[in-house]
Amino acid sequence: MTILVTGGAGYIGSHAAVELLKKGHNIVILDNLSNSNFESINRIRELTDKDFPFYNCDLLDRDKLNTIFEIHNFDSVIHFAGLKSVGESVEIPLKYYQNNIIGTINLCDLMAKHDVKKLVFSSSATVYGHPNKVPIDESFPLSSTNPYGRTKLMIEDILRDLYTSDTSWRIALLRYFNPIGAHESGRIGENPNGIPNNLMPYITQVAIEKREKLFVFGKDYETHDGTGVRDFIHVIDLVKGHLKALQYLDENEGVEAFNLGTGSGYSVLDIIDTFSMINKKDIPYEFVDRRPGDVAICYANPAKAEEMLGWRAEKDLKEMCKDSLKWQTDNPYGYE
Ligand code: NAD
Ligand code: UFG
Repeated sequence: MTILVTGGAGYIGSHAAVELLKKGHNIVILDNLSNSNFESINRIRELTDKDFPFYNCDLLDRDKLNTIFEIHNFDSVIHFAGLKSVGESVEIPLKYYQNNIIGTINLCDLMAKHDVKKLVFSSSATVYGHPNKVPIDESFPLSSTNPYGRTKLMIEDILRDLYTSDTSWRIALLRYFNPIGAHESGRIGENPNGIPNNLMPYITQVAIEKREKLFVFGKDYETHDGTGVRDFIHVIDLVKGHLKALQYLDENEGVEAFNLGTGSGYSVLDIIDTFSMINKKDIPYEFVDRRPGDVAICYANPAKAEEMLGWRAEKDLKEMCKDSLKWQTDNPYGYE
């Protein structure tokens, strides 16, 4: 039984690959390295002492993708590959629609052709748009505020339609909240290009003095300290949810959405405090205007994943902050 991992050279995919190999699964990784580096593949091999095929392949290259399906007998697919920057998606929407949506359609089409019908898809809490209340559960109304979010919503719809058309599909839509942290070895982690968009990579770059200070976007939200609140989840907990989802799909047909979050919300200032305390590093910061499009509070009700997948997040914020900094300190220039 072999699992195809699309986007397996990326941040979450590389951690998933390590967990899958550790649990004895055979994997094949496919990635076009558009937002990753081949060095992550070396590191996955180093951490697990296991080998696996890697294809530098774009999901838009149908012929090459078909060849990979002809060579390997896949049991299931975990589909991480996609572009993920909200801001960039506003600037180049067509690229996002083409890459994320056409890429997923090509993948599903070839899965059907080769009779591979078990799929775990990386969705996002962004599909809840601006939620009216928290915690957010899977039955909340779905909406989106930017092209990236719309690609996730559209793909969820496409996958639901696919199941309606052929009920032998088994599909898990995993809606991630805010993954941070890294493998405890410090050998793999998040490797953003240029100036990080997300909070934790920015903080770790300030911590190693690659950047002078953090800009905190907004101090007048209706939250306990005025800064944005999110559900930060350790990437290792997150990828364990994928292994549970695969097990679930072995036993259940259908298409089902699951929140992968901890169920706790922490503010930007909470993160700065915990990060500074556990790592004994000051994080200089300055308040600036709100970032357009940001929601005040977003955290999950993860009960469905606990009940149906038998999964819950275990690592706390201190571990997330410690592992994030170890990765950054050991790899100040990422994989380069
Ligand atoms: P990432 O950019 O590190 O990994 C995605 C990988 O997909 C990259 O290695 C990239 O090179 C590859 N890729 C992109 N387009 C491709 C294509 N057409 N063909 C082949 N490979 C392609 O991102 P990540 O943080 O690991 O995210 C993985 C998935 O999870 C994405 O779908 C993302 O939208 C989703 N997600 C991420 C977050 C987050 O905060 N990191 C939150 C919610 C959802
Ligand atoms: N923030 C700052 N300064 C920064 C970066 C972020 O103050 O330099 C704040 C934001 O305003 C927000 C919080 O930190 O309040 C978290 O911001 P992130 O950019 O780290 O995360 P988001 O919740 O905005 O976005 C993430 C992913 C999106 C995904 C969304 C919902 O990056 O792709 O979660 O799942 F859509």
